[in-house]
Amino acid sequence: MAYADSRIMPSPSAPDPRQFWDNRYAEAAYAYGDQPNDFLREQASGLAAGDALCLAEGQGRNGIHLAALGHRVTLQDLSPVGLERARDLAQRRGVSVQTLCCDLADFQPPAESADLVVAIWMHLPPPLRARVHRSAVESLRPGGHLILEAYTPRQLALGTGGPPSLDLLIEPQTLAQELQGLEWLVLEERQRPITEGPYHRGTSAVVQAHGVKPLMRV
Ligand SMILES: C[S@@+](CC[C@H](N)C(=O)[O-])C[C@H]1O[C@@H](n2cnc3c(N)ncnc32)[C@H](O)[C@@H]1O
Repeated sequence: MAYADSRIMPSPSAPDPRQFWDNRYAEAAYAYGDQPNDFLREQASGLAAGDALCLAEGQGRNGIHLAALGHRVTLQDLSPVGLERARDLAQRRGVSVQTLCCDLADFQPPAESADLVVAIWMHLPPPLRARVHRSAVESLRPGGHLILEAYTPRQLALGTGGPPSLDLLIEPQTLAQELQGLEWLVLEERQRPITEGPYHRGTSAVVQAHGVKPLMRV
């Protein structure tokens, strides 16, 4: 699936987080490592290859794993520095990925264009998050899958990674409401150990979700 690369700047009304992420992604180490998220690896292992859209994908580790499994992958993120690191990693791994540098506030994937949507640690302000979740469901083809892992508010007390702000964290019930229209294979709140690069280390409070868009009934 080819997406229009609008190169749109973040909305003027929103604080611009791009400098923060560009600085983090310019550090020597891959911020969340160069291996895929454990939950994504486990849940994607049996899926048929198709068009995969990875939202807020940073330095590309999850999408590059999917490309190695045969998916046609688009990595979306607002950080050009992160996506440059993703292209380097993809080249070293010998896989091909498309990159799309834009703010999610300005991105609307076409309806029914993806077989798989991935959102790992996509922590957005609630109004934007709800809109992105809705458009993620709309962008799935019938039978398509969505795989997501996010920190819950319980993570604030653990302090082992993730945003330090309550409104960027999500309750499982809110997630289920925002992603309505999917049938759940997994929707679970957990505490689990995470080791992902220098920024995600230790026992973590997360919600894990894997949903399928129902096939059309005739
Ligand atoms: C914690 S990182 C996760 C990166 C990647 N998903 C991973 O698991 O390695 C959060 C990502 O969200 C991206 N992001 C934050 N706000 C965004 C927005 N409004 N539009 C697009 N990307 C955004 C950041 O640039 C960053 O790459």
